Amino acid sequence: MKNFAGKICFITGGASGAGLGQAKVFAKAGMKVAIGDIRADALHNAVSEIVEYAGCPVADVLPIRFDLTDRKQFEEAADTIEKVFGGPPHLFIQTAGVNSFGPVEASTFDDYDWVVGVCFDGVVNGLVTFVPRILRAYGGTFGAPKEEFHLVAVSSLGGLESGPGTGPYSAAKAAVINLMESFADTMPAYGGHATVLCPWNINSNIGSCELYRPEQYSNRGYNVNEKTIAMLKTVHATGQDPIDLAEVLKQGIEQDRVLILPFHTFQEELDWITSEYEKTKLYMLPETERLAKTKSVLSDPTHLYEYYEQKEGTEPFGLAREDNDYVVANRKKV
Ligand code: NAI
Repeated sequence: MKNFAGKICFITGGASGAGLGQAKVFAKAGMKVAIGDIRADALHNAVSEIVEYAGCPVADVLPIRFDLTDRKQFEEAADTIEKVFGGPPHLFIQTAGVNSFGPVEASTFDDYDWVVGVCFDGVVNGLVTFVPRILRAYGGTFGAPKEEFHLVAVSSLGGLESGPGTGPYSAAKAAVINLMESFADTMPAYGGHATVLCPWNINSNIGSCELYRPEQYSNRGYNVNEKTIAMLKTVHATGQDPIDLAEVLKQGIEQDRVLILPFHTFQEELDWITSEYEKTKLYMLPETERLAKTKSVLSDPTHLYEYYEQKEGTEPFGLAREDNDYVVANRKKV
């Protein structure tokens, strides 16, 4: 997509963090922007922030309160966008996400159902709901859409690497990368494109997502309290600015990029990907597998938080619950 002005954009998770940054940047580029989010208060605040940043009419920003794990609500959101803006989005960005960190062996069904439900099933819901609408409205032939269109999903660098404390999240994000590559392979046949964005640390509010974790998923396997949330906040405070990240995404969309990593140069991206695959390569022979295992982060279970300075009022995140009776001592709260 090269021309944004006058087109329609829909951003899930658009009320906060990376999604809000995208809403500001694409509104400033002249798009009509719908933002979908589960939190009504955050949506309300986001609208005025977007209008102020972009200098656009308030009528060009459409807040939609919905839960993306609910397919009916997703369908209703699509109907609302078509009714208000006159068509489906040309640019559909699935940014909403949640996370929860702890030993993979301590993960409960609730941990999987919430994290995978939002981060992967939510993306599936979005694609099944919107792709037919987008292709009917804007799909054409190779290099010649009726109107330019682009699909985006936000994964994570965590989707390219496994982690002993990020199991459900990394698995969901890996699935998002794989699925979006399928769309990147197929959308050009209709004249469109697809991109998956893999950020690292973003200065966002994701560290507080446990505060609105739905009641039906409250049986956590991990130790979560106000002090672990405070620690995550200090971590994300050092992350990439959402506007900068959105500008990187915009440029990537203009260049029809499939996979966007947050590094400054192609060489940096290549080095990172290569080092990840070096690890996988070691698993391919018995002799090298042993080497991979000695390098494994399992020998260093505290790796998730050891890099971060622990300030007063904070506590390490990524540990199992205190009452867990089978996880090794250094991977649970004592
Ligand atoms: P954020 O918490 O600031 O924004 C995420 C938004 O998604 C929130 O406004 C939240 O209300 C919304 N949301 C959550 N569950 C929802 C549901 N069921 N239905 C509708 N909306 C829902 O977090 P952030 O960091 O901006 O996250 C954006 C994306 O970036 C996520 O997919 C996240 O996994 C990914 N990411 C974040 C990183 C970070 O360091 N913050 C690093 C790499 C990827």
